[in-house]
Amino acid sequence: MASSVPIIILSVFLCFFFSLSFSNAQSSFRPRALVLPVQKDAATLQYVTKINQRTPSVSLNVVVDLGGQFFWVDCQNNYVSSTYRPVRCRSSQCSLVTIGTSGYCLDCFLPAGPGCNNNTCTIVHENPATHFVTDGEAAQDVLTLTSTDGSNPGRLVAVPQFIFSCSRTFQLESLASGTVGVAGLGRDRAALPSQLASAFSFPRKFAICLSGSTRVPGVLFFGDSPYNFLPNIQAASFLKYTTLLINPVSTAVAHRLGEKSDEYFIGVKSIRINNKPVKLNTTLLSFDKNGNGGTKISTSEPYTVLESSIFKAVTEAFITEAAALNIARVAGVAPFEVCFSSDNVVSTRLGARVPQIDLVLQNSNVVWSIFGSNSMVSVNDDKVLCLGFVDGGSGPIVGNQPRTSIEIGGHQLEDNLLQFDLATSRLGFTSTLLGARTTCANFNFTSAA
Ligand SMILES: *[C@@H]1O[C@H](CO)[C@@H](O)[C@H](O)[C@H]1NC(C)=O
Ligand SMILES: *[C@@H]1O[C@H](CO)[C@@H](O)[C@H](O)[C@H]1NC(C)=O
Ligand SMILES: *[C@@H]1O[C@H](CO)[C@@H](O)[C@H](O)[C@H]1NC(C)=O
Repeated sequence: MASSVPIIILSVFLCFFFSLSFSNAQSSFRPRALVLPVQKDAATLQYVTKINQRTPSVSLNVVVDLGGQFFWVDCQNNYVSSTYRPVRCRSSQCSLVTIGTSGYCLDCFLPAGPGCNNNTCTIVHENPATHFVTDGEAAQDVLTLTSTDGSNPGRLVAVPQFIFSCSRTFQLESLASGTVGVAGLGRDRAALPSQLASAFSFPRKFAICLSGSTRVPGVLFFGDSPYNFLPNIQAASFLKYTTLLINPVSTAVAHRLGEKSDEYFIGVKSIRINNKPVKLNTTLLSFDKNGNGGTKISTSEPYTVLESSIFKAVTEAFITEAAALNIARVAGVAPFEVCFSSDNVVSTRLGARVPQIDLVLQNSNVVWSIFGSNSMVSVNDDKVLCLGFVDGGSGPIVGNQPRTSIEIGGHQLEDNLLQFDLATSRLGFTSTLLGARTTCANFNFTSAA
């Protein structure tokens, strides 16, 4: 009898000890959303986020690729982590990454280490700047992110076995200086939005709000709204919705026959300039059987790229409307062909007062309006304003990739909140937030106490 007393005391003590340590464990806290800063790189015009990986945790700068399929990092240079695990061949994790030409088994004949193990699964991944593809070892490691209530950053949360591709240093070519990889936000199950949603059981939604500033970051949210910006603007209340379309033919460089695209397409039905319809070859606005045509949203193009005949029609209409406002055309400044003197151009809250460009979506009431802040790029010390669209050419693309007719690029996305709902295949978009008296650089990154 006497000997049972210490056991009871010990077990009471243990219960107390365990309840304490469990309440401290990160697994007991389930975030409703996560937040990351996204900073524009001045030299490359790429958008760069900061994310923590490994044990001990290391802060990594990686380029955001909206249509990208995977998270990949350079493992050749300084990858040190006690929690690194290669993904074994034929495992369930390997089947998750079996898309494109990824998922086959690999042996390695270099010194063993992160990126070089036998009997591992591969991830073929693309560099969004060079479009070069290479294979990397599929691996898992701890990813640490910041939770949010939608207004401020909150506590850190970890995904213990986040799947990524272990790449090599040469694959970083043309990516922003100081970056060590790419964060793919595509619709694939192995991309960040789906892996994070399944790790924390929140909806398969994410939102991105890019800042045009190269000093103050914009923001990327994983999970649902609120998305709150200073001074207490609930940006999600301005969202309008359109269907995200699936291009039946993959637009990735490395893909299998019959594979769908992981990128985000929307259905632009027509384009209006100052409310006047631009005459376009509408065949180019839908997908053909080879996946050519349509409109996609892309962070890997700094400016919207238009197929040649669309570029010609849009710029001619814009020039005519600008002339009616007494805005004088001047010589183009590369990469832009259509530029104007800023002399007669009035500044407004929505940027330069220039002809308004509307992308008309499923019907004439659902319109993505582009005002001066998103259409014009200021060059030559603000003396010249250029229409920030570029001519993408026409006809087939070398390497047999489908040619998308309209690629809405970074400059046109800045200070617009975009929400991607993967479960319902729906895009929420706000047009410019400047009209709501906030910007994408206005998320309060100071932690609440
Ligand atoms: C993989 O297996 C081959 C053949 O057995 C061996 O030569 C090689 O060293 C192994 N590689 C690693 C990284 O263990
Ligand atoms: C419209 O575009 C399609 C697809 O490129 C092309 O086959 C067709 O000839 C074009 N129509 C006109 C009138 O230019
Ligand atoms: C940002 O959030 C912090 C923490 O809640 C708060 O103290 C601070 O006042 C906020 N900043 C602004 C400009 O409201």
